Amino acid sequence: MVAGGDGLARDDSGRVTFVTGGLPGERVEVGIHQTKKDFARGTVTQVIEPSADRVAEPCRFVAAGCGGCDWQHIDATAQRRFKAAMVADALRRQAHQELEIGLGPDLPATGYRTSVRGVAVDGRFGFRPRSSHQVVPVDPCLVVHPLLAELIAHGRFPDGEVVLRAGAGTGERLVVVSHDDDRTSVPDGVRVVTDGELKAGRRAWYFEELAGRRWRISARSFFQSRPDGAEALVAAVSAAMAGVAEGGHLVDLYGGVGLLAGALPTTGPVTLVEIGASSVADARVNLADKGVRIVKTDVDHWGAARAEVVVADPPRAGLGASGVARVAATRAGRLALISCDSASFGRDVRLLAEAGYELRHAELIDLFPHTSHVEIVSRFDHV
Ligand SMILES: C[S@@+](CC[C@H](N)C(=O)[O-])C[C@H]1O[C@@H](n2cnc3c(N)ncnc32)[C@H](O)[C@@H]1O
Repeated sequence: MVAGGDGLARDDSGRVTFVTGGLPGERVEVGIHQTKKDFARGTVTQVIEPSADRVAEPCRFVAAGCGGCDWQHIDATAQRRFKAAMVADALRRQAHQELEIGLGPDLPATGYRTSVRGVAVDGRFGFRPRSSHQVVPVDPCLVVHPLLAELIAHGRFPDGEVVLRAGAGTGERLVVVSHDDDRTSVPDGVRVVTDGELKAGRRAWYFEELAGRRWRISARSFFQSRPDGAEALVAAVSAAMAGVAEGGHLVDLYGGVGLLAGALPTTGPVTLVEIGASSVADARVNLADKGVRIVKTDVDHWGAARAEVVVADPPRAGLGASGVARVAATRAGRLALISCDSASFGRDVRLLAEAGYELRHAELIDLFPHTSHVEIVSRFDHV
C-alpha cells in the first residue's frame, strides 16, 4: 500500500500501476484510467483471489460512490498494519532509515468524527465521490459521532459546502454553511453561521471538553477530529517527552487552540506559536490560567528562543527545511513531531537528521479508521 491509499502493482512490462481498491497479495482485474510512460493508474473492477484482509464494506454508501472513506474494504486491524508499513516505507525511501512503526492505540473505527466537511445537495448532507462532482447523500454515515449523525439525519442545509462540528464532551454543535436560505433547518440549540458572516468578522465557536480541560474552538480554528484521538495524541506526546529535565522551556509549534500546550504535563515556561488569528484568539482563552506565551506568527518567521523540548504539529506539508531550521535554532535536546502525511514525515526525518536530530521512536495514532490517512507521533534526540 502506498501513500494515498492505493495498492502498488507492476504490469507485465514491470511498470508501476497504482490500483485503487487493491490489496497486497491478491489477484484482481483492474480498469486502467491513466497511462503515463513511468506509471499507470487503475481501479479494481473484479476481485479474483481476495486477500485475507479484504472485507465487505460495512457502509452501504461506498457502493453508491461515497468518497468519504477509501479503506472500508480492509479489515480494521489490518488497516493499522498497512498504515504502519506505508510509513516505514516512506522512511526507507526518503530518509534511508529502517524503523518499526508502533501500531498505537486501537481507537473505535465507527462513530468517531466530531468534525466533518461535506456538501449539501437538495438540502441533504453528503460527500463527493473520489473523482466526480456528484454528491452522495450519507444517512447514516458510519464514521461520524452520534451528535453529527443526528444533524445529518434531521438537518437541512443550503446547497454548497457544509462543515459540521461538535463537542462530544459538551454536546454543543456548530454548522458552517456557504450561504443561508430558508431551507436551513437544524435541531434546537445548534449554531449556524455562514462563510460570508465569518468573512465579515462575526465570531462563532463551540466548546469541547477533553483531557481534563475545556476548549473553545472557533469556526475557523483547527481542532483534532475526534476527542479520544486528541487524548491519545496528548498521551503519545507526553510519552515522547519522558526523561526531559523538568521545568525546562517547552515550545509548541503550530499550536492551534492550545491542545498540547494546555494538556501536556509541564512545570516550566511554555511558548505556543500559531499563525491563525481565530486559533490564537481561542488559545488565549483556553490557556488563560497557564501563563503560556502565545506568539502569533508564521513558524518560518519566528525568532526562535532557547528551549529544552519542542513539540511540532505542522499541517500536511510538514516542517520542511525552514521549519526544521526553526526547531534547530531552539537547540532543544528533544523533539516530539506529529505528522499527518507519510511522505512529508519521511522527508522531515531526513532534514532533521541533517540538523542533528535522530529519530528514536515513531508510533501510529490511527485517528481516521476506514481511510488511508495517517497520523504519526515521533521522538527525536539531538546528538
Ligand atoms: C495540525 S494543526 C495542529 C494544532 C494543534 N497542535 C492541535 O493539536 O490542535 C496545525 C496548526 O498549524 C497552524 N499553522 C499552519 N501553518 C502554520 C505556519 N506556517 N506557522 C504557524 N502555524 C501554522 C494551523 O493554523 C493549525 O492550527
